[in-house]
Amino acid sequence: MKITIIGTGYVGLVTGACLADVGNDVLCVDVDARKIDILKSGGIPIYETGLEDMVRRNVAAGRLTFTTDVEASVHFGELQFIAVGTPPDEDGSADLQHVLAAARNIGRHMDGFKLVVDKSTVPVGTADRVTAVIQEELLARGLDTAFCVASNPEFLKEGAALEDFMKPDRIVIGTDDERATQLLRTLYAPFQRSHERLVVMDVHSAELTKYAANAMLATRISFMNELAILAEELGADIELVRQGIGSDPRIGYHFLYAGCGYGGSCFPKDVQALRHTAAACQVPLRVLDAVATANEAQKHVLVEKLQTRFGENLTGRHFAIWGLAFKPNTDDMRDAPSRVMIEALWRMGATVTAYDPAAMDETRRIYGQRDDLALVETPMEALLGADALIIMTEWKAFRSPNFETMKTLLKIPLIFDGRNLYEPIAMREHGFEYFPIGRRL
Ligand SMILES: NC(=O)c1ccc[n+]([C@@H]2O[C@H](COP(=O)([O-])OP(=O)(O)OC[C@H]3O[C@@H](n4cnc5c(N)ncnc54)[C@H](O)[C@@H]3O)[C@@H](O)[C@H]2O)c1
Repeated sequence: MKITIIGTGYVGLVTGACLADVGNDVLCVDVDARKIDILKSGGIPIYETGLEDMVRRNVAAGRLTFTTDVEASVHFGELQFIAVGTPPDEDGSADLQHVLAAARNIGRHMDGFKLVVDKSTVPVGTADRVTAVIQEELLARGLDTAFCVASNPEFLKEGAALEDFMKPDRIVIGTDDERATQLLRTLYAPFQRSHERLVVMDVHSAELTKYAANAMLATRISFMNELAILAEELGADIELVRQGIGSDPRIGYHFLYAGCGYGGSCFPKDVQALRHTAAACQVPLRVLDAVATANEAQKHVLVEKLQTRFGENLTGRHFAIWGLAFKPNTDDMRDAPSRVMIEALWRMGATVTAYDPAAMDETRRIYGQRDDLALVETPMEALLGADALIIMTEWKAFRSPNFETMKTLLKIPLIFDGRNLYEPIAMREHGFEYFPIGRRL
């Protein structure tokens, strides 16, 4: 099949590469010429495990190409996937300007049937708006060309995106149109050879499904984070509680880790957007309101522990940070808890040396050159002369470090662990003062 992917970011590039990998001809278009230049010259603008190899392989095979030429991109694919960003608007709603701009471009240039597929996370009713915008453009051109708009929300996780796309749990399709269903069934056939994974529903339900999924996962995290605070007060251990409840098949183990709050490009903005949608319909979503409030507070819990230990004036203090990305195996720092921590440390007068296996360039892009921030090439270098180590991301490489070497590098053998990577008893035996979240010390 010939497919155009509009928006070549985390979702668009992964979708494009995976669809090309099973034999489709894919053209990825983006308005960001820098991204397209990097891709055309054999580079990759984001960090995602396995993506570089997959992109190279499919470019070499002639199945995957990149462009900034909008008109050519509309002519190329019978299927037009919209995978542009939907960042939060000032009022918390999803900003649809990029989605609607993409739709307008399709309407302006289409010269035959198009199946337009919303892959971006968009509020209920967006497919109707995309349809209206395309119709408006066709009308202005005096055309009555057939097209169809379907919803196909994406559930991939950054860090495991290729695996998620190639072996999806489910593929949600929102459409009432038989032709659209057939085209998408054919497109996704290679990804569901062992059993049917397509869940076909009406468009509004598909659009809501994506928000419901992220809202549910965020709820589990906030629930555990609040329980972690209570566990500390009660002398209980949240990690043991997690195992105790996770073993119940009705609950399961996923998304029950207490920590320094959820971040990333999806949970915060999607929870906010769903709350906005509900408020606009005057439907209270009290649980989700609490999920968001709890998460905002949770991003400061480690900062508060640090203040309790050192006081509020950190002038002259220096801290090491391990982990900048909002989670492991990505360079994405959108809404990352590390940013809340770093900015709080700066406000209190401290300086920071940080290390992350993938997000150093992104950190440089966000903060630029500053006297109070040094980025180093190894985790151990970050510790040199620091008053404490603060762990913000659970990268594998941080799980079993050489604690003896760490003690020789740190000024004080002290760790604030926002991801509960270590056992409190073992840390005491190693001679560390250790501040995890919700653990029994
Ligand atoms: N990142 C994730 O893990 C993830 C997972 C599931 C769903 N989503 C959703 O997918 C969508 C995209 O997310 P992302 O993380 O890939 O965003 P991103 O910011 O990484 O990429 C979006 C890209 O779209 C481009 N763009 C904007 N307007 C355009 C236009 N008119 N024509 C062509 N390109 C245009 C931007 O330049 C950018 O490169 C969002 O709605 C997001 O909520 C993201």
